[in-house]
Amino acid sequence: MKIAVSGKGGVGKTTLSSGLALLFAEEGRRVIAIDADPDANLAIALGATPEAAAACVPLVEEDELIEERTGAAPGKGGMFILNPDVSDVVDRCGVTFGGVTMLKMGTVERGGSGCMCSEGTFLKAFMRHLLVDRDDVAILDMEAGIEHLGRGTAEAVDVLIVVIEPGGRSVQTAHQVRRLATDLGITDVVAVANKVRDADDALFVRDALGDIPLLGTLPLSEAVRLADRDGRPSYGVDPDLDGSLHDIAAALAQRLDRSPH
Ligand SMILES: Nc1ncnc2c1ncn2[C@@H]1O[C@H](COP(=O)(O)OP(=O)(O)OP(=O)(O)O)[C@@H](O)[C@H]1O
Ligand SMILES: [Mg+2]
Repeated sequence: MKIAVSGKGGVGKTTLSSGLALLFAEEGRRVIAIDADPDANLAIALGATPEAAAACVPLVEEDELIEERTGAAPGKGGMFILNPDVSDVVDRCGVTFGGVTMLKMGTVERGGSGCMCSEGTFLKAFMRHLLVDRDDVAILDMEAGIEHLGRGTAEAVDVLIVVIEPGGRSVQTAHQVRRLATDLGITDVVAVANKVRDADDALFVRDALGDIPLLGTLPLSEAVRLADRDGRPSYGVDPDLDGSLHDIAAALAQRLDRSPH
């Protein structure tokens, strides 16, 4: 199961990604969670201490490894191998929190991961390996842009979840993300509405989403807000939110069962 999570800033992408990752890990599945947001904070959401989170080296900064595998040091230019061996990168660079193996992508200076440089090529090869070659559950916590997903890898995403909140701007972003995703070849794009207070909010999001299917909703939760403030995971602090996450996980499983993947 390969799940990408996107949406406007602050809507709850990390809350949903970490919640699903911890829940699937609890069910005994091997989960790899990728922090693909330049402003990375997934580790804390998975239960890492600030020290452990700070110690996670983004893949793009693994200079020695990138040079060893591509033949060129990051930022140096020159000739490099276009299909580096990345098969051991999860074991080598992944860090485990709450039963979830996590890796940070980091950002490539100028031009995103599409840039013709050794580190961009290394990241691209890693994404491809993760999405195409492995059968673990992969959850990608992304930003509103989805540029870590290039052509050739995006098709391997089973479902892209756009997180929205009851507000017009996040829904507008959702429609933009869907257009980008469709252009890249992602066939299944669904929404999860977060911070939903009441039936009115639920009605609003259904209406505003138009033909984007609503996979589920997560309630606005004081316990989640406090957990975030204290640097703790939001999964396991509010039974209502946990229940909704389980419903979303079940809806995902059902959806993917029916898909050709
Ligand atoms: N259901 C909820 N109830 C209350 N607060 C929430 C809920 N979901 C998220 N939040 C709070 O909203 C803020 C943003 O959440 P989160 O970090 O998950 O969003 P994000 O989309 O990953 O943000 P960013 O774009 O900065 O990566 C956090 O302070 C989080 O605790
Ligand atoms: Mg985030």
